[in-house]
Amino acid sequence: MMERILTRWMDIPELRKLDVYLANGGYKAVRKALFEMKPEEIINEVKSSNLRGRGGAAFPTGVKWSFIPKESKKPVYLCCNADESEPGTFANRYELENDPHGMLEGVIIACRAVGAHTAYVYLRGEFSIQKKILDGAIAEAYAKNLLGKNIIRSGFDLEVYTHRGAGAYICGEETGLLESLEGKRAYPRNRPPFPAIQGAFASPTVVNNVETLSNVPHIINRGADWYKAIGPEKSPGPKLFCLSGHVNKPGLYELPMGFPLKDLIYDVGGGILDGKALKGVIPGGSSFPIFTAEEAVKVNMDFDSVRAAGSLMGTAGVMVMHEDTCMVDALKTIAHFYHHESCGQCTPCREGCGWIEKLLIDLEAGRGKMDDLKILIDVAVNMEGNTICVLADSLSMPVKSFVPKYRDEFEAHVKLGRCPFKTGEQKPAEAA
Ligand SMILES: Cc1cc2nc3c(=O)[nH]c(=O)nc-3n(C[C@H](O)[C@H](O)[C@H](O)COP(=O)(O)O)c2cc1C
Ligand code: SF4
Repeated sequence: MMERILTRWMDIPELRKLDVYLANGGYKAVRKALFEMKPEEIINEVKSSNLRGRGGAAFPTGVKWSFIPKESKKPVYLCCNADESEPGTFANRYELENDPHGMLEGVIIACRAVGAHTAYVYLRGEFSIQKKILDGAIAEAYAKNLLGKNIIRSGFDLEVYTHRGAGAYICGEETGLLESLEGKRAYPRNRPPFPAIQGAFASPTVVNNVETLSNVPHIINRGADWYKAIGPEKSPGPKLFCLSGHVNKPGLYELPMGFPLKDLIYDVGGGILDGKALKGVIPGGSSFPIFTAEEAVKVNMDFDSVRAAGSLMGTAGVMVMHEDTCMVDALKTIAHFYHHESCGQCTPCREGCGWIEKLLIDLEAGRGKMDDLKILIDVAVNMEGNTICVLADSLSMPVKSFVPKYRDEFEAHVKLGRCPFKTGEQKPAEAA
């Protein structure tokens, strides 16, 4: 069993309180970053740790920080992305509730590294309890001069503000987030310019996920070499896996990167519900290609291994489906989500997500035609890469994997003129 690093709150009661956090080594990393390290040294340590963003894109964090202009005439901002709206993803929620100072320490260190004196934490609209807890932690930190002017007499100033969205998935996309933070509708922006050059209020901005920032104090305290020895060197670190779906023990699990998906499902997760057979797993939230059971049991859960196996690890929201899952219905549910959450700026996304959902509604209800399977793929292919942000790709990827991998099931719906999974009715094999 690996030492709990990001989830040490499971071992230390009330870690969310500042006095408990301080008694357990809290804010040591901030002291080190403020008094013993130059900003460039912090960036180099994080670069050398190979920490990669946990928000979905797996971009190297230190490299992202190094894009911020060194002598910016404009203010530099840091935005902590706590929008956490990807289906099947619930790590940030637990971190905010149980270890808000862990994230705040990461925020302070990141701000010191890039020269930011203002940080925003953008929380999803539904996170009202989490905002309350975080606001409490921020107030505690101000009271102990861990935030504010001249932090612990280091000469470094930092103000931190929290901002709650209004409950839209697109507010998690970093440029949609920035628009929303500025008080506008969360329409993602065309890039370039990237946020590092022109982010919040047209100024250089770093956007990082809660979990990414929560890793930073541990890297500063224990060093890049310690960090990259956890899991594969190019994709290392402790990782929070959100296991959901048809497993006996769904939940949040901290494991080293590179942990076998098979062991996550069958050992950690207690196996498949009701002793049924595994049918498919989406490894990174709903936005990525599904693995069949045969593929899933061979994959290790780190960014590079999942990519090499044909999907992406995204947020590590691992969604498990057993043999009784209707894959047409599952894909229909996913399509409904993206259609509903598309901001509507780009025609391929706005119309494409709608067409895909409509085709799947008809297929699932038994009103589909064989040609619809070709049209589904056609629409998905034409959405990809033709839009301002990758929300369109987030539906295209599941469609392009579900349809060929479970084709017999899609065809069975057409041949039978109904869903073969409805209680007491034929299974797809019988309809072939
Ligand atoms: C549609 C969409 C939704 C996203 N939602 C989130 C989110 O809720 N939280 C998050 O951290 N990143 C989200 N991202 C990724 C962000 O755009 C960005 O890559 C991330 O916040 C960067 O942080 P990181 O480098 O620490 O991973 C989303 C991206 C897209 C395209
Ligand atoms: S891809 Fe979709 S969500 Fe993204 S900007 Fe275009 S319409 Fe909006």
